[in-house]
Amino acid sequence: MDKLLIEGGPALKGTVRISGAKNAALPILFGALLHAGSSEIRNLPDLEDINTTRLLLKNMGVEMASEGTTLSLDASMMNSAKAPYELVRRMRASVLCLGPLLARNGFARVSLPGGCAIGARPIDQHLRGLEAMGAEITLDKGYVRAEAPEGGLQGARVVFDVVTVGGTENLMMAATLANGTTVLENAAREPEIVDLARALRSMGAEIRGEGTSLITIEGKHRLGPMSHHVLPDRIEAGTYIAAAAITRGDVLMEGAELEHLDSLIGKLGRAGVEVRREGDAFRIRHHGELHPVDVETQPYPGFPTDLQAQYMSLMTLAQGSAAITETIFENRFMHVPELARMGADITVKGRTAFVRGVDQLHGASVMATDLRASVALVLAGLAADGMTEVRRIYHLDRGYEHIEKKLAALGANVRRVPQDEVGVDSL
Ligand code: EPZ
Repeated sequence: MDKLLIEGGPALKGTVRISGAKNAALPILFGALLHAGSSEIRNLPDLEDINTTRLLLKNMGVEMASEGTTLSLDASMMNSAKAPYELVRRMRASVLCLGPLLARNGFARVSLPGGCAIGARPIDQHLRGLEAMGAEITLDKGYVRAEAPEGGLQGARVVFDVVTVGGTENLMMAATLANGTTVLENAAREPEIVDLARALRSMGAEIRGEGTSLITIEGKHRLGPMSHHVLPDRIEAGTYIAAAAITRGDVLMEGAELEHLDSLIGKLGRAGVEVRREGDAFRIRHHGELHPVDVETQPYPGFPTDLQAQYMSLMTLAQGSAAITETIFENRFMHVPELARMGADITVKGRTAFVRGVDQLHGASVMATDLRASVALVLAGLAADGMTEVRRIYHLDRGYEHIEKKLAALGANVRRVPQDEVGVDSL
């Protein structure tokens, strides 16, 4: 296992290119199962979660060949409808194969994901929706066993009790091959759902209303090949914006779609960070004081939970106090004690972290147990004095393409080294 060594200080300067969105690519890859033939997905990021998804698909008999960021798939020889625990426990999003498998195959056996570092994360809404479409669901030895009724899944009206990204995606995919019309109410509105709808439409699916809380899907007897270019990763973009801001840098960002980040950019504008369009790119600059601005995470278009940790790192250096409230996941403050080890002044009360800005963070040996918490520590390390060692970076590799290379190209002093190499504690 590797770790990152970061010598904080330099202001980030230069150009960074944003990769394809992990959280769009994952459901889209599973969506390709809906066609018993070939498909092509472009702009796939090079990430561990994508590798895990490919392993799952390979296990099901899907053939794949990649060239650069393009993946060609052939799902005509699918010979298994099972997602085993060994893979699902590595990546919860594996559960997104349930809808497509059930729709195409009439049967699926998918391991229950269990809880994870950021919360319990049940999938009851996915299962309830599939049941409304006529599926028989049983839980057996840690696995969800789902069987479609004779004649296939039936269109249904599903009202989600909570706004769920994965639940919306799973049911949207299942409904594309169901008999009749499915209506999803209180659906999630994330850009990744819009991108999935586009990918499914390239296969001939009939979907309306994606990007709103009411999505309607007219089921088809069969779908054709998928051909799709994955949208840019708004969370990666938001992370590099925070990196530019925390180092008082001047960064040009290419390949991003920042209209998906209005909530972050609005908050940062009030904090004193400038983000403006320059031709096809965006320029992020920060020089003067950083003002504290409160945030509360919400489903899209609200402030994303996936940027809460990075935003907190930034606020540790603000001139005053900011309240950061997490409403989506019950345990998404694991970065707090680690940031405190770097000199941050944060108190958590219930779902809110009160962050009182300090003049300087200090390098330390830190680690985190999820992707966004880990990258928040990298950001803190970029701004801290001295050396920061971020351990357990396999979390970063799940969701940030070539992070140390992208940061180094912007002038950061960051190196990936084996975990057992001498660290800051022993210096
Ligand atoms: C997606 O997770 C993302 N993952 C997460 O990205 C992101 O944090 C999350 O949406 C919220 O935006 C992918 O897209 C692969 P949810 P998902 O279902 O779909 C509760 C990252 O760092 N809930 O919208 O699993 C749930 O417990 C990550 O890239 C139920 O109660 O999230 C949570 O509190 C991690 N029952 C809330 O809803 C259900 O059946 C939102 O979860 C489903 C969810």
